[in-house]
Amino acid sequence: MKWNTNLYDNKHEFVSQYGQDVVELLSPKEGELILDLGCGTGDLAAVIRDRKATVIGIDSSPDMIETASKKYPDIQFEVKSATDFTYEQKFDAIFSNATLHWVLDYKKAIACIYDNLKENGGRFVAEFGGKGNVASIIDALKSTLRNKGYISNAEKTVWYFPSLPAYTSLLEEAGFRVTFAAHFDRPTLLQDGHGLKNWLRMFATSYLAGLSNDVVETVLQDVEDQLRETNLKDGAWYADYVRLRVVASK
Ligand code: BEZ
Repeated sequence: MKWNTNLYDNKHEFVSQYGQDVVELLSPKEGELILDLGCGTGDLAAVIRDRKATVIGIDSSPDMIETASKKYPDIQFEVKSATDFTYEQKFDAIFSNATLHWVLDYKKAIACIYDNLKENGGRFVAEFGGKGNVASIIDALKSTLRNKGYISNAEKTVWYFPSLPAYTSLLEEAGFRVTFAAHFDRPTLLQDGHGLKNWLRMFATSYLAGLSNDVVETVLQDVEDQLRETNLKDGAWYADYVRLRVVASK
């Protein structure tokens, strides 16, 4: 998937702002070696670096890695997949914010995370979309696409939003001990009057693939019209984010 890193940094900076709480949960220590899995444009890797840990950021998007490397030239960033990475040195912790819902081969990702952690206490700290995440937006988008005849677009599986018991069971099956897990609503304010359309343009590109610009505009307008009553409050758009947070150790 091609990412617009300007749109990401300028209109969706809430992704890394909310991620600061996840860094607190990670609690990086001086001298630790930490992997930021799905580092995007690098802002949270920089926060971890500021805590005096050594951080490596990986992302499957070359665009994200290029932008991250320009913003933070002192940090090591690499294009790598969440399901296929190996480092010679094992990590004290693997951290991931707002990424793992993109990884449909989630069992492979969990196995890869486990393999790359230090024995006896290597920790995995992550937040991503949990069961029910952005359900109102997905429902509206899929029904609009279906009504307009774009059935194969509507039927795509783009994201993985597991329930808390489903995901923590997978972690346990992989060998992890889950020490914390939470599934909670976090209605998220989208910037300005075009927030919902911008969110869809940024994140829902797979659903819109192959449609002409004109069709995309009518789809986005339809979705806005369907959600105005529930997701627009005092002129501001909200996405019905539901987060899954986990801490697990090896
Ligand atoms: C999320 O952070 O929950 C998310 C972001 C983009 C698309 C889907 C989910």
